[in-house]
Amino acid sequence: MDKHYQKFNNIHGGHNCEEELKKINLPKDMTGLTLLDIGCSEGFYCFEATKRGCTRVVGIDINAERIKIAKDMRNKSGYTNVYFFEADLYDIVKHISKFDIVLFLSVFHHLKYPVGALKILHELTKKLLIAEIEVSGTDNIRRDGHGFCYPPKNWVITAFKMAGWNNIEEMGIGKNGNRIIFCCVK
Ligand SMILES: C[S@@+](CC[C@H](N)C(=O)[O-])C[C@H]1O[C@@H](n2cnc3c(N)ncnc32)[C@H](O)[C@@H]1O
Repeated sequence: MDKHYQKFNNIHGGHNCEEELKKINLPKDMTGLTLLDIGCSEGFYCFEATKRGCTRVVGIDINAERIKIAKDMRNKSGYTNVYFFEADLYDIVKHISKFDIVLFLSVFHHLKYPVGALKILHELTKKLLIAEIEVSGTDNIRRDGHGFCYPPKNWVITAFKMAGWNNIEEMGIGKNGNRIIFCCVK
């Protein structure tokens, strides 16, 4: 896995976060809200949520190097209400409370148990889940050169429903033509 994923400030990953931010429709005013970013990478969206007024922001990622970068940046930033933890999403549900908004951006294809993950997101979300999920673009599963699998869109929507999500909307297209941004309201 590449050392850096996100591109912002002095982090030189391949994904332009400012461009992505325009697509995910994060509320402009987040005063008083709490936010959890699952698979937060170097923490761009967590810092953005803090700037927009969230009272408590938590980013978790299984990648120790990325979390170290996020923590270093946090320590230099002066923001005291953003926290980063190296953690696997499957392990966190018993340890943290619910958040108003949960972000789950481009993590789905990394996971062994995707329906289980959507169920965990359902347990952790109070109001809104914003999820970016790459689909195959066909009626079949697509595999890429890294061994990641991308299911058909209808499969993803069924998986959301199986996990308890009933109010699922497509908000647009994310990082590439097959990454769909879903907005799921509780
Ligand atoms: C493609 S990157 C997306 C990063 C960020 N969400 C974004 O959109 O800019 C996927 C991230 O999910 C993390 N990840 C993968 N499996 C995970 C798991 N089981 N629990 C927590 N994070 C995970 C990876 O380490 C990686 O940083």
